[in-house]
Amino acid sequence: MNIIFQDNGNHLDEWLQALKQTLPQAKVRIWQEGDDAPADYAIVWKPPVAMLRGRSALKAIFSRGAGVDGILQLGADLPAGVPVLRLSDAGMGVQMAEYVTHAVLRYFRRFDEYQLLERDACWRFLPPRQREDFSIGVLGLGVLGQRIVAALQHFGFPVNGWSRTQKTVDGVTCYAGREQLAAFMQASKVVVCILPLTADTQGILDRVSLGQLPQGAYLINVARGAHLVEDDLLALVQSGQIAGATLDVFAQEPLPRQHPFWREPRITLTPHIAAMTMVGESVAQIAQRIQVLEQGLPVDGVVDIKRGY
Ligand code: NAP
Ligand code: GLV
Repeated sequence: MNIIFQDNGNHLDEWLQALKQTLPQAKVRIWQEGDDAPADYAIVWKPPVAMLRGRSALKAIFSRGAGVDGILQLGADLPAGVPVLRLSDAGMGVQMAEYVTHAVLRYFRRFDEYQLLERDACWRFLPPRQREDFSIGVLGLGVLGQRIVAALQHFGFPVNGWSRTQKTVDGVTCYAGREQLAAFMQASKVVVCILPLTADTQGILDRVSLGQLPQGAYLINVARGAHLVEDDLLALVQSGQIAGATLDVFAQEPLPRQHPFWREPRITLTPHIAAMTMVGESVAQIAQRIQVLEQGLPVDGVVDIKRGY
């Protein structure tokens, strides 16, 4: 079995070591420009066109992340009929739950405001917020969205969820489809975006949808930068309509030094680390799926290419 692996400078030795241990029968090679020798599987993250174009003999393409927008953007250059598989949780769920819970609690307990007071050596009590007024809306009720929901429910926050198809989730007020997006936004004091980036979800967080949030709302974006119209957020934060935002992802990454987000104190930034790929768990999941594919059985994690996730 031959596997081509795309090196993007992240933990290469760890990946090769884990693949060698978990799939000892496989010959894993790092793909390089000009390599068009046969391969059974490809393991990639935002692959260059030349790596996959014409490779219709592949049995599957594995994403090294939960999102596959960086693969599907190859469009017609993706070999037709080859399944694309994404990571399902693989150690990312708990990290997402930690990240979003931290951001929500920071706003709910007003730690962002206390931090500013501390800088001025100012000892002042701020009135506590009421939990029942602090409803959290989660855009995307998939593997990671549901993990976030479960973590927030632990603290007793009212939770709303929005997905493409109607869902029933215990204790969650569920909304579905574009026609229910406005009602979802109006009902959410904090909105968390954990959607896949597709043609339908690109730019979904714009002045119209964000303007539907209650006055003084918060945004947490842990999905993709292109979900957000950045200038619209900036204007809404500067007008006070949105009280704060925590952003892990950006239209351009790394975020350029001159970007106004760096200088807006009500916007908190992290460099796309909300949920990082865990090498051990990811290799175990990929290896298990290769074994299933080799037996000709149906496998989990196959992306619906037309739908985009
Ligand atoms: P998933 O299991 O595929 O869940 C996707 C959810 O989004 C589903 O509930 C789906 O609705 C919903 N959805 C998709 N298109 C929609 C639309 N047009 N309207 C409404 N809802 C829509 O994906 P996941 O594993 O939770 O991952 C989600 C995303 O998180 C990834 O694609 C990636 O971009 C991002 N991510 C970011 C990081 C980071 O570090 N920042 C790390 C990992 C992942 P249905 O349930 O109805 O299908
Ligand atoms: C990270 O952003 C992922 O999609 O796994």
